[in-house]
Amino acid sequence: MPHYILGIESSCDDTAAAVIADDVILSNVTANQDIHSSFGGVVPELASRAHQQNIIPVIHTALQKANIGKNQLSAVAYTRGPGLLGSLLVGSSFSKAFAMGLNIPLIEINHLQAHIMAHFIRNAEKTGSVPTFPFLCLTVSGGHTQIVIVKDHFDMHIIGQTLDDAAGETFDKAAKIMGLPYPGGPVVDRIAREGNPDRFSFSKPNIPGLDFSFSGLKTSFLYFLRDRLKEDPLFIENNKADLCASMQKTIVDILISKLDKAATETGIHEIAIAGGVSANSGLRSGLYGLGHQKSWNIFIPPLAYTTDNAAMIAVTGYFKFLKRDFGSQADTPYARISF
Ligand code: KG4
Ligand code: ZN
Repeated sequence: MPHYILGIESSCDDTAAAVIADDVILSNVTANQDIHSSFGGVVPELASRAHQQNIIPVIHTALQKANIGKNQLSAVAYTRGPGLLGSLLVGSSFSKAFAMGLNIPLIEINHLQAHIMAHFIRNAEKTGSVPTFPFLCLTVSGGHTQIVIVKDHFDMHIIGQTLDDAAGETFDKAAKIMGLPYPGGPVVDRIAREGNPDRFSFSKPNIPGLDFSFSGLKTSFLYFLRDRLKEDPLFIENNKADLCASMQKTIVDILISKLDKAATETGIHEIAIAGGVSANSGLRSGLYGLGHQKSWNIFIPPLAYTTDNAAMIAVTGYFKFLKRDFGSQADTPYARISF
């Protein structure tokens, strides 16, 4: 009999639930919160209220789609952090009550580890390969930008990270400056397809080692547009595709050059990407290109497992379940923590 694990994710503005049979995905359901787009970013109080409304229907749908009754579940895995505390409290409180009611183990999950663990989710046919240890993972999301050496499912070490803004945040801020809706990353990606990535160049940081910095790029983009708008108030409107394509290329170049450096320094050629920005078409194709050139083994998650999802929480829960690494009812969510 497989172990059926229910995964629950509520760290930011997506309410998500998934059911997994060992490492094989049975269902993966996400309710997005459109309410934030008009505010240009996630409003924490609105996010936690929307989680409260969404969590029961989302879990119900995930169980239904998996064709699993709640009494068949072996454990409940939930995101303990990092994330917005009000949002995390909804998922963690529900998970604690649900696990207690069913008298099954509760498993607490680090959201950033889970993004990386998304690479171990299998489909029913078990097609596709999973990375072998040790591998390097570039985790790029709205809140984090890290290069991680993954030695084992739970033995992960950060060898480079952003000193200021995250890559996703940079996409979102650039989009906001251009008057595009939140979250800006997918919108910039879509518009960039029509544009010339070499039309404009923006300043790239000069940070030693494997760390990143994106705040200078954001500021240079802002000042560049401010100057151009003085001469031509329709400058953004008339150059939107080239602006998106050039900005995207700059961010992707920064990410890929550090990943290349990390692969050279560590001698590791198993290379993965994870997190919301790993959905970016420029990053995906850039990595394919470089990986091919350098004979790396490249691991790019299916789109459904790039942005926040509960399948990654469920699969991490499965590997913790195997180790009997259970959480406690006394565990409290954390807003910030690494691993
Ligand atoms: O992993 P994620 O869903 O949430 C966090 O843990 O932060 O990442 C969300 C981030 C947002 O900044 C969003 O704009 C970005 O991922 N993102 C993208 C794309 N899809 C999502 N950025 C660039 N291109 C995309 N296609
Ligand atoms: Zn995330």
